[in-house]
Amino acid sequence: MTAACSKASEHTLVMKNNCCLTGLGYYVPEKIMTNHDFALLMDTSDEWITTRTGIKQRHVCTHQACSDLAYQSSVLALKEASLTPRQLTHVIVATFTPDAFIPNAACLLLEKLGHRNIAALDINTACTGFIYGLELARGLCMLPGEANVLVVASEVLTSRVNFADRVTCVLFGDGAGAAVVSSSCHGAAGMSGRLVDVNLKADGALGELLTLKGGGSAHPLALGDTVTENFFVQMAGREVFKHAVRSMYNVSMEILERNNIRSGDIDLVVPHQANIRIIEALAKKMNLDPANLFVNVQKYGNTSAASVPIALAEAKETGRINPGDLVLLVAFGGGFTWGSALVQY
Ligand code: COA
Repeated sequence: MTAACSKASEHTLVMKNNCCLTGLGYYVPEKIMTNHDFALLMDTSDEWITTRTGIKQRHVCTHQACSDLAYQSSVLALKEASLTPRQLTHVIVATFTPDAFIPNAACLLLEKLGHRNIAALDINTACTGFIYGLELARGLCMLPGEANVLVVASEVLTSRVNFADRVTCVLFGDGAGAAVVSSSCHGAAGMSGRLVDVNLKADGALGELLTLKGGGSAHPLALGDTVTENFFVQMAGREVFKHAVRSMYNVSMEILERNNIRSGDIDLVVPHQANIRIIEALAKKMNLDPANLFVNVQKYGNTSAASVPIALAEAKETGRINPGDLVLLVAFGGGFTWGSALVQY
């Protein structure tokens, strides 16, 4: 590459680093399952679930699949971004509970949106999926030309939860959250947020602590097989808990430090909604004012990748985010994967 070329591309990257969240939306299925409903089905209680997790209820699908939830949240995000589906340049769906292996959820979503001939891909980084999707969108926004990337995280966790395992089945719920990530902030109907930075991590050595193996090529099913426990989410709860707190703390502090920000400068932290005790432990370690923490785990349970965009969209909808606010997103999930993002409104 000549010196002139390299200068021009540097200039382009700097000029185009205006990546912006121009629209948000979320959707949860209508049916609600409370802790009391679980207590009628198995040996558990509202008291146990509430004190160990903070969860009081979760929304569950009766007939909808991943792309159906994704579609509903996308329509709302597009409306807020003042865009039609045809103005989208890429569709990314973060999920580990897609409608099918093939076609992927992003292609199904694209069809539901009435669009075609653009890139549509699924990513699976478990509960960190939305933040990974934001980083991919940020990269796409830096390429030449205008980009409007739809990043959706959609999960039907209840399709892969073992209702005979009382330790895990009470934790999860279904839902979807969507963001339109555009190469500029112009034109959106609502308040836009500039995507300042994203920080992603992974460690495959710890993967065995949180798994969903059955049906994968290492654990194939043959015609007539019955599914066993490994067809469902399995996890070493206490170990996962410790890693979640430590990793979300580290990845948060790292992104703050490299942007010269103190935790006290953050107006709102939107953490992965897995468990109130994980969120409180993170807040304590980061020395956060509880007023600057967004929590909705009591209503939705752990919706995996969807939890951060649902919480972000709900925080914005309920007036918890104001112009000028600096928002920190942080998540942790199977793999292990974890990540943080900074959004300036
Ligand atoms: N209802 C009633 N009792 C239950 C129960 C339930 N739903 N689930 C477990 N128990 C019982 C256990 O059988 C055990 O009983 P015992 O002492 O008689 O053997 C007791 O409660 C303690 O179980 P344990 O698994 O040690 O509980 P815990 O305090 O670690 O809490 C989790 C379990 C799953 C809530 C907790 O480990 C956790 O939140 N981990 C993180 C999970 C998570 O959020 N993962 C996703 C991150 S992306």
